[in-house]
Amino acid sequence: MTTRLEAAHSRTRNSSLLLAIFIIFALVPFKASAQSRRPRFSLASAKSDDAVGKYTGPGSCASTTCHGSIGPRTDNRVLQNEYSIWIVKDQHSKAYAALTGALGERMAKILSLGSAETAPKCLACHALNVPQSQRGRTFELSEGVSCESCHGPAAGWLGPHTERDWTHEKSIAVGMYDTRDLTKRTEKCLSCHLGNDEKSVDHEMIAAGHPDLFFELDTFSDVMPRHWKVPGEPGEAPGTDPWYNVRELTTGQAVQLRQSLLRLASRSRGKVWPEYSELQCYACHHSLTPPEQSWRQARGYPGRRPGNPPWNPSRYTVFHDVVQQLDGENAERFDTELAHLSQLMSQLNPDRDAVAALATNSAHLADELMSKINSTVYDPAITLHLLQKISADAENISAQDEHSAAQAAMAIQSLFLAYDQNEKLQNSAQLRVAIKGLFQELQNPSAYDPARFAGHMKEVNALLR
Ligand code: HEC
Ligand code: HEC
Ligand code: HEC
Ligand code: HEC
Repeated sequence: MTTRLEAAHSRTRNSSLLLAIFIIFALVPFKASAQSRRPRFSLASAKSDDAVGKYTGPGSCASTTCHGSIGPRTDNRVLQNEYSIWIVKDQHSKAYAALTGALGERMAKILSLGSAETAPKCLACHALNVPQSQRGRTFELSEGVSCESCHGPAAGWLGPHTERDWTHEKSIAVGMYDTRDLTKRTEKCLSCHLGNDEKSVDHEMIAAGHPDLFFELDTFSDVMPRHWKVPGEPGEAPGTDPWYNVRELTTGQAVQLRQSLLRLASRSRGKVWPEYSELQCYACHHSLTPPEQSWRQARGYPGRRPGNPPWNPSRYTVFHDVVQQLDGENAERFDTELAHLSQLMSQLNPDRDAVAALATNSAHLADELMSKINSTVYDPAITLHLLQKISADAENISAQDEHSAAQAAMAIQSLFLAYDQNEKLQNSAQLRVAIKGLFQELQNPSAYDPARFAGHMKEVNALLR
């Protein structure tokens, strides 16, 4: 990505990633996807997959007749240039190298970890750090986040998966991870892009230099970029869902909320409490202004003691609107629980047991809603309503912090692209400009201004009428 150098040196890396997200989106007219599956309803699957067979390394997928074709193949549903995309365009292939750079090494020094590229704490997400006994002969740790980090150990299916009568299900049975299943796919991404009990980026690491983690499935899949096909594209099976990207957004939000609540529950039982990375970053990290210019003082501190750092609700912000739109009867119940959790978390020293209980409960509720949301049949009307609903929520969303605003900007962009691709909006060009305005407001998060962000949201909303 062209902005990576800039990213590493900028005040906050996330704002540059957001710019990259916008630029990439502006260039991607067509969005890719995969087939839908019914979700499983278990929280246990949030944990890392069981290894069946050994990990062989990306080299075993790289032959030009397998997945290393230079360009996409047209005679097959599978593109077969996955390796070429990964090695050239996908930041995951550079994930190990990130540990050996100046930033990674300084972080390791601050955290007394020795060298980052040998620290299990870092390798957990930046490489495929499986036990020696699971590493095949051709396996190399330095290959970073590679095919098997997402697709599971290949030894069991590498040979047979090219046979004519071989099926996806057979591969799954011998160790392939089911990335086609949307909820499982999101869980896999979030194992590194949110973290879990085994691997984590906390405020201590962020203060040492690690970028703050944020995620949105549809957007991040495009930025990767995708090495798989879009339903509706030539060569895709007929009947595939043209609104799949909308499902990706909504289901991805549900999984993200559930996993973040589980992480919160687990952190509330941890060594460090309160854990600052669960709170609103810019409540502590903004620049100060004279009182008459302070929007925070103008807003007041509803629901908390003035000066207490509030909970970061960004993983709930967009989902709140999604649930209101798709599941009216449960929306209120859900809002009440989350409001309670937010109030609890916005105390100076939140009660650990109460947080754990409430967060676990809400995670179960999110899980229930997830199944409903994932099985919704999406269409132009639902998509447009979602776009209208989120952009109409301008005041509420913008008054939360920059992270919530970023989630809203990504969601709006994602829904807009899905709608524009299938239905062609009359004022598509104007909407693009308005959406760009949203991302521009996120470039310097310490100086984020809710009134200006809300203004752009309203502009988007007005163009959708
Ligand atoms: C929970 C998973 C996780 C752990 C643990 C983790 N990282 Fe990361 N790291 C990420 C993700 C995800 C990104 C990309 C963030 C983004 O851009 O949204 C990243 C980005 C980085 C970057 C910036 C990369 C670049 O190209 O600019 C550096 C440097 C880095 N990590 C170093 C480390 C070090 C050193 C450790 C150990 C102390 C570590 N990471 C532990 C997930 C993790
Ligand atoms: C960061 C996670 C990730 C990495 C790394 C990754 N993939 Fe994928 N891959 C996915 C996801 C998600 C999909 C879409 C869902 C699906 O079709 O399984 C996918 C789809 C595919 C498909 C199409 C499968 C189908 O049935 O449509 C192939 C083939 C593939 N990947 C091969 C590779 C190869 C080869 C590599 C390494 C060079 C690789 N992938 C690296 C996540 C990843
Ligand atoms: C095994 C851990 C792991 C998994 C699983 C994983 N990622 Fe990542 N991802 C990383 C790390 C580490 C980086 C940072 C690499 C770097 O910048 O050097 C990263 C970077 C990215 C970036 C580039 C961000 C930037 O700043 O440019 C995108 C986009 C991304 N991941 C999307 C995804 C998606 C989508 C999935 C699931 C399909 C996924 N990732 C699964 C670890 C992971
Ligand atoms: C409750 C207040 C609080 C919250 C919330 C908080 N931080 Fe911090 N942060 C601090 C303090 C205190 C320091 C140490 C500053 C120092 O030593 O100068 C710090 C240090 C940092 C630093 C290193 C200092 C620097 O200037 O480079 C970064 C980066 C950082 N925090 C980012 C974040 C991010 C991102 C979040 C949200 C995920 C966050 N913080 C949430 C209080 C907070």
